[in-house]
Amino acid sequence: MGKLIINDVDVSGKRVLMRVDYNVPMEESNGQMVINDATRINETLPTLRHLIDRGARVILMAHLGRPDGKPEASMSLRPVGIALSEMLGRSVQFAEDCIGEAVEKQVNSLQNGEVLLLENVRFYREEEANDLAFSEKLAQLGDVYVNDAFGAAHRAHASTVGVPAVIAKRGGKCAGGLLMERELKFLGDELENPARPFVVILGGAKVSDKIKVIDRLLEKADVILIGGAMAYTFKLADGVHVGKSLVEPDKTEVAKAAVSKAQQRGVTFLIPTDNLIADPVDTGRKNKKGRAIFDLQNPRINTARDIPELSEGVDIGPATAAAFAVEIAQAKTILWNGPMGIFEDPRFAEGTFAVAKAVVDATQNNGAKSIIGGGDSVKALNVAGLGGKVTFMSTGGGASLEFLEGKELPGVVVLGNS
Ligand code: 3PG
Repeated sequence: MGKLIINDVDVSGKRVLMRVDYNVPMEESNGQMVINDATRINETLPTLRHLIDRGARVILMAHLGRPDGKPEASMSLRPVGIALSEMLGRSVQFAEDCIGEAVEKQVNSLQNGEVLLLENVRFYREEEANDLAFSEKLAQLGDVYVNDAFGAAHRAHASTVGVPAVIAKRGGKCAGGLLMERELKFLGDELENPARPFVVILGGAKVSDKIKVIDRLLEKADVILIGGAMAYTFKLADGVHVGKSLVEPDKTEVAKAAVSKAQQRGVTFLIPTDNLIADPVDTGRKNKKGRAIFDLQNPRINTARDIPELSEGVDIGPATAAAFAVEIAQAKTILWNGPMGIFEDPRFAEGTFAVAKAVVDATQNNGAKSIIGGGDSVKALNVAGLGGKVTFMSTGGGASLEFLEGKELPGVVVLGNS
């Protein structure tokens, strides 16, 4: 049974309390917080327009950062409200708080088609504690609950779980928004029965972060391509010397088990055959956490099996990128999660960008369905100027990973059934 989606809910004249994931990257510039990437805001516009066009009174509920249960000026959602108003092309009201009498007054004076953004729900400790009294106060603000915050649906908090439970109990409808619908379709249904070959590209730092995803996708994929620092743990498991590369020595058995499962199931499982390496040199400086800052010097391609003792792998090499591109070119379904190297440094971005280009080519030239599993791979595609040229880019980070692991997300479970 599918989940109830707003298309099937009468919202006209109703107060629609909608959870969105506006946890967007921000930085301070001239004393003001500026949004670095508004993708998550942009992706909620279809749902907002749907609600506005049908005369709903929209109350938006979101978190920003991890303020530890108390107000924190740098984590106010006010700048998000301003950006949203510009993107939506209409005024968006802002409430200085998310609960209380003043907020209720503001909500109750909304006209049909008007939008109000509440202040950061995480300014209250009760949000993350999924406190019932807090959920009840929030729930007072809406007749209908909508969740378009796929990126926060793995959190069992008041705004994602407590509030819909209260609204459902009193007979109100709880539905997914249009972004939530798309996330569940592409990361869920489309990967359940993928068009084949189904090629999965996984990168990122740690095997431990991705092992559950690897394990699950080994049941479904035809090809798995491994890059990023986690590839060095697979190399270590194969008896390769990895120098100063980032590895998890306690995860070599897990890596070996994945490789042998791939063999048993006839899944092509490729790890890099060459790498870009560099020599980490201590700068004598420390970062904010007091850790030594290393400069990565003398980048060069390493085609030998072993990585030199004083060097670190920082990207996949050109031969690996070419081999991965051959597999990607044959794909009919592609899932990509995690960069191939330290792409934030332009010197080490080539491997990730080569994969991004191969994914875009397969999508545009061969009609492959390409699904980007959120987080850093979306960032990498955008940095490469290729964002939007794939079939779907998830707005989730941790939520995408948990969903791809096959976990049920509490913020989805709680929604009504269709
Ligand atoms: C995210 O950015 O992944 C979501 O907004 C969840 O944020 P959190 O990890 O702080 O709960």
